[in-house]
Amino acid sequence: MIVAIDGPSGAGKSTVAKAVAKELGFSCLDTGAMYRSIAWRALQDGVALDDEEGLGAIARTYDIAFGHVEGDPVPRRVFIGDDEVTDAIRTAEIDRAVSPVSAVPAVRAALLDQQRRIGNAGNYVVEGRDIGTVVFPDAAVKVFLTASDEERAHRRVRQNVDRGIGSIDYEEVLADLRRRDEADASRETAPLRAAEDAVQMDSTGRYIEEVIEDICALAREAQS
Ligand code: DC
Repeated sequence: MIVAIDGPSGAGKSTVAKAVAKELGFSCLDTGAMYRSIAWRALQDGVALDDEEGLGAIARTYDIAFGHVEGDPVPRRVFIGDDEVTDAIRTAEIDRAVSPVSAVPAVRAALLDQQRRIGNAGNYVVEGRDIGTVVFPDAAVKVFLTASDEERAHRRVRQNVDRGIGSIDYEEVLADLRRRDEADASRETAPLRAAEDAVQMDSTGRYIEEVIEDICALAREAQS
């Protein structure tokens, strides 16, 4: 069974997806990390961000895999080929590079295959931008999670402080987030939008635990 969670950056998708997966005993898949890994590889190899052929070749060549830190059921470690990129894909440089990379149809096609292969292997909570619309249109549960721009920027800054990576300048984070929303929503291939049958949830001013509980309730209902 698939629980699809889509929405703009900073809406709380990652936190919510991991907690829902833990509570339901499902695995979880962070598809944004996959696009970030391709952007990282492109920067390493000097592949230009407008070189669609080169970017597509990277996405077709490398497998992206997830791993666990001992004792933690959530797969937080990210690998592309033989390289671990868990922290390297969370920098401001990757934040900037990932939008053009994720707009390339050949990249999306290659990652779509990988995402379906992973998700179809079991019960998964899958988070991204096009999970309910394109990757798993038959998902048993579809949630479109949003929050106000300001709240999303505050959360992202707190997350970057905790991780010790990425920008901690609120105005910079807010501007970057709006720029990425615009790019994600206006691209031609698989733009960010809610599936018609998605449940819309706004996490602004809500305890994240409530949102997690609401999604778990939807999943349990779908299971029964
Ligand atoms: O969720 P995130 O911020 O880690 O995502 C990084 C980028 O990848 C973001 O700019 C949108 C893109 N993305 C996408 O196009 N489709 C997905 N399913 C997931 C992420």
